[in-house]
Amino acid sequence: MWGIGENIEGMKTRVIYASLTGNTAKVARAIAAALGVEPEDVRDLKSGDVAGVGLLLVGDGVYGWKPSRRMVRFLKGLPDLRGVKAAVFGTYGARPTQLPVLKGLLTEKGAEIIGEFACPGVDWFTLGLLRRGRPSERDLERARAFAAEMARKAGYPLPESSR
Ligand SMILES: Cc1cc2nc3c(=O)[nH]c(=O)nc-3n(C[C@H](O)[C@H](O)[C@H](O)COP(=O)(O)O)c2cc1C
Repeated sequence: MWGIGENIEGMKTRVIYASLTGNTAKVARAIAAALGVEPEDVRDLKSGDVAGVGLLLVGDGVYGWKPSRRMVRFLKGLPDLRGVKAAVFGTYGARPTQLPVLKGLLTEKGAEIIGEFACPGVDWFTLGLLRRGRPSERDLERARAFAAEMARKAGYPLPESSR
């Protein structure tokens, strides 16, 4: 049996996120837990650190309708991702317009996009008036289901607790 978060070839699952106010981090933790891996803050990584990845999940909030500059820089610096399956996720106040940008950057590197997930996140740009209480427990449940679906599509086993 191969390890949790690895496929039959030993290729790893990585959950990499950026989160200015903590909402996307919550979703990243739910997704990573469902997959049996640790979520990784993009601030702690260099673009070259993704060697051996087989399933890459990338998450970000949306700021001025764009992903964070830090995530864009990270994705632009990634090595060739041909053969890698990728999925994007994110939180938003009004609309998840960061997701097409993230997908575009991953596609440019050769990754195959297999899915996306978004839910609202309390918006501190509006002083917390918009999307209060999000992501909710229900949002996180949907995020876990999304993670399981991505693992299934990419041929990765799930930890027993997520089956
Ligand atoms: C500086 C700033 C700019 C934002 N701009 C947008 C925006 O253009 N469109 C939108 O839908 N939400 C916007 N939001 C809301 C955030 O995308 C939303 O709260 C998201 O959950 C933040 O993710 P994070 O907590 O992981 O940083 C903005 C929030 C902040 C703090």
